[in-house]
Amino acid sequence: MEQLTSHIIGTGSYLPEKRLTNADLSQMVDTTEEWIFSRTGIRERRIAAPGELTSDLAVEAAKRALDAADLPADQLDLIILATTTGDLLYPATATIVQHKLGISATNIPAFDIQAVCSGFMFALSTADAYIRSGLARRILVIGAETNSRIIDWSDRGTCILFGDGAGAVVVEAAAKSASGSTILSTHIHSDGAHCDLLQTTGGISSGPPEGQKGPGLGFVSMRGNEVYKQAVKALGQIVDKTLEANQLQREQLDWLVPHQANIRIIQSTAKRLKMDIKQVVLTVEQHGNTSAASVPLALDEAVRDGRIQAGQLILLEAFGAGFTWGSALIRW
Ligand code: COA
Repeated sequence: MEQLTSHIIGTGSYLPEKRLTNADLSQMVDTTEEWIFSRTGIRERRIAAPGELTSDLAVEAAKRALDAADLPADQLDLIILATTTGDLLYPATATIVQHKLGISATNIPAFDIQAVCSGFMFALSTADAYIRSGLARRILVIGAETNSRIIDWSDRGTCILFGDGAGAVVVEAAAKSASGSTILSTHIHSDGAHCDLLQTTGGISSGPPEGQKGPGLGFVSMRGNEVYKQAVKALGQIVDKTLEANQLQREQLDWLVPHQANIRIIQSTAKRLKMDIKQVVLTVEQHGNTSAASVPLALDEAVRDGRIQAGQLILLEAFGAGFTWGSALIRW
């Protein structure tokens, strides 16, 4: 039997309407538009409306990806949703998405993956493993977040960074010899030794943050400078490893689609790859850091505006709390 590979047959994304600009933030905390832009490359981010949930963003992105793939939702056989800001503690938001897509009766498995900002890379890697092993043929992979719900809006070190949004891809099994947008390899890693550098201030079994009653999850807390250094190091290593695993040279890459946390982290990865910044898909200025949503949001943007073309070599990468990091190499 011929070996199976994963083809990406559709992409989609969705952003909530409300824009929060750096000027707005300078009215909320002790910061300036210039400080935020020069340190992060961010000018604005989107914020979900009251009552607009992670599953709502995910469903919009999913519908657009399914439309692009020309695939009815009931033809899916698996849904994997990467999120850290699910609608509820349980059930998994993927099951809510399944219901909102109107395909609960198919009884296909739907589950969440939590790897924070690397979540989409972990979800895509999982989908690729399902396809290669023959366990699934058509998988909806989503990254969706409402980061605004876990931000301490009085903490200027974190509230300037994050935004809300969702992105999705549809992945289909194909024969290795078939033409189409093919995932060549995925690579994922974790190192729990640094979990205190980027975490929430409370949780379920850890209990609520000090002084708070009830099962409060707390807010994002980060030692930004140290996270920055770790991100640059881990991403540098993983992009080298990804090219090496495929016996490809960095000059052969056409596009880098990075996690959009901070323009300076992205520039340093591009520099290591000797890529011109024009070969990097950048959304950080308009979206901020949308965690698990950022890579599929950027990918969808570059596919729809025609920058990414058939036959090109695309490197996706992300780094997040845990720490976790991951990459995927795709021949589009
Ligand atoms: N406006 C103005 N000043 C600010 C500020 C803000 N929004 N946030 C922090 N500062 C201040 C600090 O209080 C500190 O002041 P001090 O020197 O008087 O103590 C000073 O700026 C420098 O702080 P530092 O944290 O060292 O700044 P930095 O250059 O590292 O930039 C980040 C901060 C958060 C922008 C940067 O560290 C970063 O982007 N890190 C990576 C974060 C990330 O990507 N996380 C997600 C990974 S998935």
